[in-house]
Amino acid sequence: MAEKQHIPPRHVAVIMDGNGRWAKRRLLPRAAGHRAGMERMISLAEHAFGCGIKYFTLFALSTENLSRPAEELGALFSLFREYFGRHVGALKEKGVRLNVIGDASLLPPDIAEAAKRGEALTAGGEKGTLTFAIGYGGRREIVAAANEAVRRGREVTEEEFASLLWTGELPPPDLLIRTGGEMRISNFLLWQAAYAELYFTDTLFPDFGGEEFDAALREYASRERRFGKL
Ligand code: IPE
Ligand code: IPE
Ligand code: MG
Repeated sequence: MAEKQHIPPRHVAVIMDGNGRWAKRRLLPRAAGHRAGMERMISLAEHAFGCGIKYFTLFALSTENLSRPAEELGALFSLFREYFGRHVGALKEKGVRLNVIGDASLLPPDIAEAAKRGEALTAGGEKGTLTFAIGYGGRREIVAAANEAVRRGREVTEEEFASLLWTGELPPPDLLIRTGGEMRISNFLLWQAAYAELYFTDTLFPDFGGEEFDAALREYASRERRFGKL
């Protein structure tokens, strides 16, 4: 028997791609695209939790993105600073718990600290969990978990291994959305997305609004999840 759909999915993850092209089409600097992306991210998270989604995970900066030019990284880091500084209070008010994943040692220390403070401030939130992946790479995450298993000195089960990943206690994503037209995963949630339903759209992230998000949820609801079974 095929698994019946949860409507809505419990965990939705988004690869937020297309900010640069959004800016280029408007003859704006790439940083303007990232700012528009951040504003979109804030409104989309609110929409998603309003739809009853319990876990909403956003891919904002990959380990590979860290090799982009210093000017672009500087703009992205400024936006993260602004986000953690300005927006965490609103998350707390709404009962949303902030969770930041990635290799914190790859980030400017003040951003890593602001992320930790935001997590601590919102720790009691019960409406949902907003996970923000920065300095995140699926391969790096898997290697870190494997090294931790080695340190523990014994073989681990799939469940134990999953608990050693940065996503720790999060359930695996049910629906993985990628905006911006590319049909690839780009090192995101490699382990966790094994049975995620995939939704690709050409819409550039700053243009990806609530209506299209709802369309992705409807598409998800129409999928039959078999998990390899009959
Ligand atoms: C996604 O937008 C955000 C990050 C990767 C930081 P891009 O910056 O990749 O935008 P495009 O793909 O160049 O349009
Ligand atoms: C994926 O976008 C990473 C994020 C959205 C954070 P990229 O723009 O880095 O992906 P590629 O280079 O097109 O695979
Ligand atoms: Mg891109």
